[in-house]
Amino acid sequence: MGNVYVLDHPLIQHKLTYIRNKSTGTKEFRELVDEVAALMAFEITRDLPLEEITVETPVTEAKTKILAGKKIGLIPILRAGLGMVDGILRLIPAARVGHVGLYRDPETLKPVEYYIKLPSDIDERELIVIDPMLATGGSANDAIHSLKKRGAKQIRLMCLIAAPEGVELVQQQHPDVDIYLAALDEKLNEKGYIVPGLGDAGDRLYGTK
Ligand code: PRP
Ligand code: URA
Repeated sequence: MGNVYVLDHPLIQHKLTYIRNKSTGTKEFRELVDEVAALMAFEITRDLPLEEITVETPVTEAKTKILAGKKIGLIPILRAGLGMVDGILRLIPAARVGHVGLYRDPETLKPVEYYIKLPSDIDERELIVIDPMLATGGSANDAIHSLKKRGAKQIRLMCLIAAPEGVELVQQQHPDVDIYLAALDEKLNEKGYIVPGLGDAGDRLYGTK
């Protein structure tokens, strides 16, 4: 079973409060999502393996460390996942970015895939699937299935807010995938929105309705 980590860093929790607040406008919402994504990326990359190398400092030779192991791939789920990409890229600028386009049919709540474009070497990368919301889990589940079908071997999922239903689906379908959240909320409402949640992440990021 994949692990679920709720990242309780005070800065993440503080900023999430403003993200949830319906009075927060588009500009500030977008900035806060970007900042929280960066903070979450900092937290979830703590376990990346290091290797020792030697460099010449202006003074002498130093044994020091660089990242070893697999390279990173970021996979935002369109559209709302895009709002988290730049924040993560500030910390991991060499990461490749693949895109999975999915929207939730408002009637059935089932995800519909409309676009996919991935780095050619996803099988050699540690992939981080990014989406602010994990509600029924349908979108993340389908995105992860799509990635695995195309060769992905190592996948983590990073979301701002999840409902228990979404976590359960991903854990059941993808027990190899660890899930990183800023908050695990109470439930879904009858329209499939996370309660208390933050509303529609895509609409709030892009000022649509
Ligand atoms: C939202 C959100 C997730 C999905 C979560 O996207 O960004 O992708 O819903 O719901 P689920 O877990 O029940 O699948 P939406 O379909 O609204 O598309 P958008 O990002 O283009 O606004
Ligand atoms: N998608 C969103 O953007 N918000 C929710 O609460 C659920 C799905």
